[in-house]
Amino acid sequence: MTSLDNHRRPLVIGIGGTTRAASSTERALGFALRGAEAAGARTRLFGGTFLHSLPHYAPEDPQRTDAQLELIEAVRQADALIIATPGYHGGVSGLVKNALDTLEELRADERPYLDGRAVGCIVTAYGWQAAGSVLISLRSIVHALRGWPTPFGAGINTLETRFESLDSCSDPKVAAQLATVGQQAAQFALAFNTHLTPTHLSATPEGRTAKVLTLAS
Ligand SMILES: Cc1cc2nc3c(=O)[nH]c(=O)nc-3n(C[C@H](O)[C@H](O)[C@H](O)COP(=O)(O)O)c2cc1C
Repeated sequence: MTSLDNHRRPLVIGIGGTTRAASSTERALGFALRGAEAAGARTRLFGGTFLHSLPHYAPEDPQRTDAQLELIEAVRQADALIIATPGYHGGVSGLVKNALDTLEELRADERPYLDGRAVGCIVTAYGWQAAGSVLISLRSIVHALRGWPTPFGAGINTLETRFESLDSCSDPKVAAQLATVGQQAAQFALAFNTHLTPTHLSATPEGRTAKVLTLAS
């Protein structure tokens, strides 16, 4: 897999974290992205600081900020995603949900929203109840966006598992689970060759026409 040249590697986008500098959610996401890289993917992280720079998504306002456009375009190009949220009051955090709401801008794409893409889901919470229930909520959101939640998702109880630095996790089993989430996201893209299919290059009707002509010739 390492012999794949850069452009033939699937691109896995990570979205998640909190506003905290030492966000365990973002660190957990980092473990999963490294798992995706080990499985042959390129990765890009949109962490808490970036998500905090996004304005509240307002569908009626046609203006989009540079940050919004950057996220939208990255997800448009993505072959798979990994989304990581803390459990906040029994649900997905507003910070992460706002980023996902911003993906409404992909509704008219040939590949709308997260269509055809595997999506690894990660939840951190101060207890098992929210870790489990918010993981189900996040997977429901992914379904609504037409994504394919990976078979394995990770619910992490951060009262028990600590992420003291970017690359340390107090429980090797949790580290392995996070790597599995990333690995499954990358493997799905490789298995379905989404990274070799040019559909994501044709977001506009003109682009779609160009693609049809290309495929027909
Ligand atoms: C506003 C807020 C609401 C929270 N609600 C819950 C909750 O309902 N259930 C829970 O188990 N933990 C809850 N937590 C704890 C966080 O889910 C937990 O600390 C998480 O690991 C924080 O992630 P971070 O380290 O990336 O900031 C809450 C934390 C905050 C700040």
